[in-house]
Amino acid sequence: MFGHLFRHNHPTVPAGFGTGEAAAIITVKDVVKSFKVGTGDVVVLKGINLAVEQGEFVGIIGKSGSGKSTLVNMLTGIDRPSSGEVVVGGMSLNTLDENEMAVWRGRNQGIVFQFFQLLPMLSLVENIMLPMDFCHMFAPSERRPRAMELLDMVGMADQADKLPTAISGGQQQRVAIARALANDPPLVFADEPTGNLDSRTAEDVFRMFEGLVKGGKTIVMVTHDSSLAKRVTRTVLIADGEIVNEWVVKALPTLTHAQMLEASHKLEHQRFGPGQVIMQQEQPGDRFYIIVEGTVNIALARSGGSEVVVTHMGPGQYFGEIELVRHDRSVATVRAGEAPVEVVTLSGDAFMDLLAESELTRDAIQHVVRQRLRENVAARRAEPTIAVGAP
Ligand SMILES: Nc1ncnc2c1ncn2[C@@H]1O[C@H](COP(=O)(O)OP(=O)(O)OP(=O)(O)O)[C@@H](O)[C@H]1O
Ligand SMILES: [Mg+2]
Repeated sequence: MFGHLFRHNHPTVPAGFGTGEAAAIITVKDVVKSFKVGTGDVVVLKGINLAVEQGEFVGIIGKSGSGKSTLVNMLTGIDRPSSGEVVVGGMSLNTLDENEMAVWRGRNQGIVFQFFQLLPMLSLVENIMLPMDFCHMFAPSERRPRAMELLDMVGMADQADKLPTAISGGQQQRVAIARALANDPPLVFADEPTGNLDSRTAEDVFRMFEGLVKGGKTIVMVTHDSSLAKRVTRTVLIADGEIVNEWVVKALPTLTHAQMLEASHKLEHQRFGPGQVIMQQEQPGDRFYIIVEGTVNIALARSGGSEVVVTHMGPGQYFGEIELVRHDRSVATVRAGEAPVEVVTLSGDAFMDLLAESELTRDAIQHVVRQRLRENVAARRAEPTIAVGAP
């Protein structure tokens, strides 16, 4: 219905928006940010690396003070890294001076804040026309009709001539979203856009963002709301100025953020070719594996040299924990499937340390171990056998 308002509503890199050699529309490389405070420097971002692809809806989550807003300020160019680089749509932001940055941002990014930040002396429709005027986007005669259409899209056209103070917070946020879209930017950044709204209004606003993503926009949104965070296409967890490995978050969600970060530091990456054995039954198992890419088959040996494939596992699932928890030899053979498999792994010691620190995780893992051992017993009894070496 409002498709004509947006040129960039298809998943390609927009014209004049960098060469876009890879699909990443945002690349953050080794970004460190420190602030001077009284006695010295406080390091708030400690080496951030991140790539966001066009069309993603990324939720940035983490405790208060972890560095979420600081990171978003690096992406919008509102603030600059102490070291490292931010490339957005092929444009390296540190090459722009303040004025160039303001115009570039106005054309390429829409920004939505927690406290709306509409200009109080301008009417709603004027607030939306302002970015078009500032960046000389759209012919002057098109700006008001476009602003009215954007207001219509967020359900606020009938109040266009009111001042921001005359409408509710939720309505102000709708208008702020319309303003963010004024110049039809391919990227929208939002820092706690629902943080100041009641849950019903927050839902409305969130649906608006979902609609924009469907229309091809790329959105990066900071949120404290864990139920909303579950609905984005990808979450990035920040703890103490660092990004926590997403596979640790998926596989071990009951760890504290600090424990997840500790685990992230200790991870090793490994790749296995198609069919390659990752764990061999009856051999010592001394690592914890989380699958990042591909699938593995879990097979049990049966008497007579045959084996039975008990199950397959894919990205986000883990194995190796039974052996570590029981201090035992491997209970099954784990092989890469038909495609290469990528895993992240923790040493047995690192894994057992985490379980010692986190009772919730210990309980969760023990539950999984019991369930898997039961399944293995059942599989040995019930499943038809296949010959070893069969595909
Ligand atoms: N300009 C500044 N000068 C000094 N310290 C700062 C500055 N801006 C942020 N910080 C510090 O950096 C840390 C991260 O702040 P940031 O605002 O990024 O956190 P956040 O994750 O967005 O938190 P919240 O969820 O409360 O919004 C905090 O300890 C904060 O005090
Ligand atoms: Mg913040």
